[in-house]
Amino acid sequence: MDLTAFFTLHKDLPREGPGLPEDVRWAVELAGTHGEARICDAGCGPGADTVTLAEMLPEAWIDALDLHAPFAEATAARCARFGPRVKAWAGSMAELTGPYDLIWCAGAMYFLGVTEALSAWRKALTRSGKVAFSEPVLLGGDEPQAVRDFWADYPGITEEAGIVERVEQAGYRVLGRRLIIGEPWEAYYAPMEARIAELRAEPVSEALEGVLAEGEAEIAQWRAAPERIAYLLCVVAPA
Ligand SMILES: C[S@@+](CC[C@H](N)C(=O)[O-])C[C@H]1O[C@@H](n2cnc3c(N)ncnc32)[C@H](O)[C@@H]1O
Repeated sequence: MDLTAFFTLHKDLPREGPGLPEDVRWAVELAGTHGEARICDAGCGPGADTVTLAEMLPEAWIDALDLHAPFAEATAARCARFGPRVKAWAGSMAELTGPYDLIWCAGAMYFLGVTEALSAWRKALTRSGKVAFSEPVLLGGDEPQAVRDFWADYPGITEEAGIVERVEQAGYRVLGRRLIIGEPWEAYYAPMEARIAELRAEPVSEALEGVLAEGEAEIAQWRAAPERIAYLLCVVAPA
């Protein structure tokens, strides 16, 4: 992929995956994270959830990291108002050291694998530490073609039971789970759609055309079955 073209589209988008502030709040409350907690936003993208975490927990210390420097920089800029208690940098979430009371990982866990990430993060958690992550999920029953097309690049996708199994294989238990469906996806795709329209107002390079067409195809696939395309948000703890 042409990274310049990719970031021409993705630059300044508020978030890089589905989710709403209320999803973060639900997970933080369930995890019992409070006070001067140490938190990691792993795979933070442009930092929408980092901001929610920092606002929700005004005494917390938050590390936010993303493999891609432009996302880490966007997060650092958005979080500058919180001062030194929020730090963002480019790095891999495969190498977290912690210790963290909460590792928040929205829509990024599949880059490492649920079992692999949870196993690696165990040593990065405090004794009462929790992980909250969202992961693609099938709702069960006969999947419409639109759903199969949408998840074609993620053959490892399972129903909820398969995610729970992967959590348990890592030696964790699920404290709670909820679906991310509908509105949180609109929060991701509506700004992307607006940005595509803005970029299309001018002639575009071949590389950018490829990225825009890919974005449009993904949004169209989601719009074909928005009530069937979901992530599962799970709060888990070492068993
Ligand atoms: C779907 S996006 C979600 C971003 C963000 N959590 C959000 O909801 O807006 C996944 C992010 O994971 C990042 N990522 C992928 N592999 C990573 C790794 N090994 N370490 C850190 N970040 C990674 C990508 O760069 C991307 O920004």
